[in-house]
Amino acid sequence: MISNNIKLAASLLAQEEIIGFPTETVYGLAGNAFSEKAIQKIYSTKKRPSFNPLIVHIKGIEDLEKIAVEISAKAYELASRFWPGPLTLILKKQPHISDSITAGKETVAVRIPRHEVALELLSQLNFPLVAPSANPFGSISPTKANHVEEYFKEQIPMVLEGGDCKSGVESTIVGFEEEKIILYRYGAISKEEIEDVVGPVMVFNKDNKSPKAPGMVLKHYAPSTKFILTNNVKEELLKHKGKRIGLLLFKDEIYGAEVDKQIILSSNGSLEEAASRLYNTLHEMDRLHLELIIAERFPDVDLGATINDRLERASYN
Ligand code: TXA
Ligand code: MG
Repeated sequence: MISNNIKLAASLLAQEEIIGFPTETVYGLAGNAFSEKAIQKIYSTKKRPSFNPLIVHIKGIEDLEKIAVEISAKAYELASRFWPGPLTLILKKQPHISDSITAGKETVAVRIPRHEVALELLSQLNFPLVAPSANPFGSISPTKANHVEEYFKEQIPMVLEGGDCKSGVESTIVGFEEEKIILYRYGAISKEEIEDVVGPVMVFNKDNKSPKAPGMVLKHYAPSTKFILTNNVKEELLKHKGKRIGLLLFKDEIYGAEVDKQIILSSNGSLEEAASRLYNTLHEMDRLHLELIIAERFPDVDLGATINDRLERASYN
């Protein structure tokens, strides 16, 4: 059931139920961070492997020290610049934070979402929310309430309506190791924007076996249609003549291409717009019964790096 009743959402969460909830990045599958029962429901409903830890969502920075300890000056700088917003910080956890949230790690992921409905919901609760993206493990993240409804149907009692997600890609994940600042996941805030605040960061996001941030699991965000990422769309088209093909392009159409569908993510070349439309477009293309989706690689700067990261994982096989 999709509903905009925030009170109902709050009361379900207080009863240890899990619900779909909106954020500015993607919809989350949310539960009480202090309820082991809710946490287990999240893992089982999502079919998420237990080694993949969850993000804790808080309503304000005043709650941060209830979740994490030893918070460095750089962490506070990033938090004050980007919260509420699509930045997740990896910090040393408070001892009471459940091992099932952190997958046994000594660190915990935290963020404040920048979404009116999410913040109103959090303000009605006396606990934070753990929420992974509300998609079955490995599939495309949801950016509309009905994506969540279609994925989970009666397995969850409610999806809280919050409109289309503005950023449309997940939060950027940043952690700290000794003096180093590490980018664990490209996301809605670009690496360049993070570096403007704290200086150079290291990127560490491709370890598949013992994922430090398994958003880095190599095959992820994948449509069920076969998916190819390329620098040269025309060359790829020649290899697949006669197939039912959809093209996913940045800003320019390919004139005369013999394909079933061409989708331009931003005709005026805005990477923000392209990122915000990416997942919804993948959801739509997946319903077109194509044999193949060919996606064009984006310029590898700003949110182009985030988009390429998702396209690479979608095309991994
Ligand atoms: O934008 C978002 O972050 C969305 C919305 C709902 O907030 N949530 C989201 O959650 O993308 P999920 O579970 O799909 O991705 C969480 C990522 C995973 O890659 C996980 O490995 C990483 O956060 N993570 C969580 N705790 C961590 C930790 N202690 N150390 C490193 N990575 C961690
Ligand atoms: Mg996810």
